[in-house]
Parts: sequence; C-alpha cells; structure tokens
Amino acid sequence: MQPVKIGLMGLGTVGGGTASVLLRNGEEISRRVGRCLEIVHAAAREIDSQTILDASKVKLTDNAEDVVNDPDVDIVVELIGGYSPARELVLKAIENGKHVVTANKALIAIHGSEIFKAAQEKGVIVAYEAAVAGGIPIIKAIREGLAANQIEWVAGIINGTGNFILTEMRDKGRDFNDVLKEAQALGYAEADPTFDVEGIDAAHKLTILASLSFGIELQFDKTFTEGISKITPEDVVYAEELGYRIKHLGIARKTDKGIEMRVHPTLIPERRLIANVDGVMNAVLVKADAVGPTLYYGAGAGAEPTASAVVADLIDVARAMGSDQENRVAMLGYQPDAISNLPVLAHDAFETAYYLRLLAEDRPGVLADVTRIFADHDISIEAVIQKEPQKDQTRVPLILLTSRVIEKNMNGAISEIQNLDSIEGEITKIRMEHLG
Ligand code: HSE
Repeated sequence: MQPVKIGLMGLGTVGGGTASVLLRNGEEISRRVGRCLEIVHAAAREIDSQTILDASKVKLTDNAEDVVNDPDVDIVVELIGGYSPARELVLKAIENGKHVVTANKALIAIHGSEIFKAAQEKGVIVAYEAAVAGGIPIIKAIREGLAANQIEWVAGIINGTGNFILTEMRDKGRDFNDVLKEAQALGYAEADPTFDVEGIDAAHKLTILASLSFGIELQFDKTFTEGISKITPEDVVYAEELGYRIKHLGIARKTDKGIEMRVHPTLIPERRLIANVDGVMNAVLVKADAVGPTLYYGAGAGAEPTASAVVADLIDVARAMGSDQENRVAMLGYQPDAISNLPVLAHDAFETAYYLRLLAEDRPGVLADVTRIFADHDISIEAVIQKEPQKDQTRVPLILLTSRVIEKNMNGAISEIQNLDSIEGEITKIRMEHLG
C-alpha cells in the first residue's frame, strides 16, 4: 500500500522528537497500521544541518505554507505552537482537505471550536492528543476508554514546570525563581514562562479536558486561573504539618448548578497517589460513575514523550483515513449536535474547602472573634494550628482548615476577619480538595 505522507511544521523540541520516533519505530508502526508513515515535507524557521531528516527524500523549507499547500501531503503536523500563524496554517490545511495533528493546547483551547467545525465540514480529522499532559494518552482515555461513563470530575497536575517548582520548594526549600530558571534550561517551560507559573498553560489544558469530560463547548475565557507565584515556603511547611501537599491542580467538576472549571494551587491529602506526583511529571485523576476513580501518570512534556502522543495520533488518523466522518470518534468525543450548553460557574459559586493563614495579635479573645465570624457564615473549622509566640513577638501565625463552603460565603467571612484590629496584613487563602 501507498505510504501515508506527512508534512511536518516545526522542527524544534517536539518536531525533532517526532521525526526521531517515526524513523526509529517506522517498522513497528507499519506492522500496526498496515502502511508506512513517511515524512515528505518539513518546515522550520531555520533548517538545522543537524536535522535527522534526509534532504534527498524530504522537501525542507522555511515557509510552513509550502507544507499545507503541498498536494502530496495527507496529514499536516502542526508543532509551531502559539495562536498565529498556527491557526491560519491549520485552517488552510483543512481547506486543502488535509488531516491535521497538533500538540498546540493554546490553539485548541481558544480556536478549537472554529477548527473542529471547519474539519467537520471538510470531512477531515483534527487530532490533538499531545495538547494535554504530553505523553499521557488522557484524551483517548476520556474520549474512548471511559465513554460508557458519566464523568463527575477530573483533577490533574497538568503543568510540569509548575509541579517541578512546587516539588523543589518542598523537598529542598529552594527559591521559586531559581527553580524556574532550571525548568527553562531543561526545556520544560513555555516560551513565555508566565504561562506556566500563572496557570495559563494548565487552563488551556483544563479547558480541553472539561469539554471532553462533559461534552461542552471549549470555553477558555470562563476557566478560573490562579498561579503558584504567591505560594510561600511557610505555606508549604504548614500544609505538610497538617498532612497535605500543595499541588497546582486543574479541576473540572459537574455540579447541580453547572460546571466548575478552575486552575489553582490546592492542598490535597498527602496519602493520595496524585499528591506524590513530583518533579515535571503529570497526572490526571478522573472520577466517573461506573468505573470509579482512575489515575493516569506520565511525562507531560519533553521531546519524545510528547512525540509519543503526536505519533499515536498519526497512527489513529492513518487508520481512520478511509472511513466516513460519521464512523469516526467525534473530535470532542460527543457528536457536534449533542454539545450541551450547561453553564460554566463563576468562581464565587465554586464549592471547596480552604486553608487560611492569618497573622493575629497574641491576646485573649482573638481566636474567639475569628471563629465567631466563621460560625456566622455557617463555615465549620476542621483544624487549627497556632504556634507559641517567639520571644519578643506579639503576633502569631494562625492556620485554619475549613469544611467545604461556597466561595462567596468564604470571601464574606475573610473580609470581616480582615477588618478585625487584631489581624495584620493579607489573609492567605488556598483552596483544598480531598479528592475522595
Ligand atoms: N510548559 C508545559 C509544562 C509543557 O511545563 O507542562 C507541556 O505542555
């Protein structure tokens, strides 16, 4: 049979990894697919003389449009990243009748609806397994492996850089910026590292996971996003003392009122498996009605782990190329005419438990004032730590864990506590989930 002809846009970390995996495992892949997968055209801003692609067999260009307009190409692989020109190139490839494989989470989270609609109309496939959690086949797991279930919630460590920073802070007491520099040097961080530390990268991925889990439109603009840059070493230590770890989680949850989509630092019990996912590793925990909880763990970034997902998509597309659109797995896992319009909840409607850290004057009645305010707001306190004051100090840190509460109630209580004369400075608030 004719080989499946691939056009590769981007020969950076993931592009280079994809070329390596395709070349190294070509024989094994053709045993699985029944056809060879052959790179016939590749584009990169600068063609590196070290490229492993054979220039006598592969057309090399610095203009990605050459790839999307090449009549020989069956599948275009977009590994350029970012919104533009990736969006225009992908839409052009679709218009030209080509299938697309992309690792671009920003592109899918923001422009996915437009891209899937264009692909649906043209009868081509857009595959994006590498866009979420790198090498972990989480999209396939949710879209196909768990297709029998109603998904209740998904919680994931889906940004390796953020997890690496939190792990090093906890294990070695290292400084935030110092660890970030190392993640950049290792090639894990985004081109703009604020995407990692402020949670935007994780929010892109969570947007996609929520749509796959609940069959809703991609709505990045409604995903609540809070980064890890304000986490202090003392919060890491107090959390540990209470039996928790702080992880940067993406959480999507279906409630009676709508869907929660949120990315934020989260205390989770240290006995949970996901609390022990360290370094740059990713993990996604899915709670579904029939199977219960399932956990997916692996490398969320890096050349070959991400290439593993890209090449798996190429294999899937190659296998499905001869089929009709209606006999394929829908791109978001739900039929396009069955997408639900369940509301996405604003953050003040989220329900979660809390870790709070206050700096309080050390005198009688202060703790009583604080607990009275919680009682007035119907918030139950689950644990309290107050250390003895250090010599000559008149203020002490007070750490509280609360029961689950609607965020609006918690914010009301916090602003009343903040107004007490006995409380100094900003109250630290970190959300907490038991993931039981
Ligand atoms: N910057 C991302 C991370 C890369 O650190 O997880 C993979 O999307």
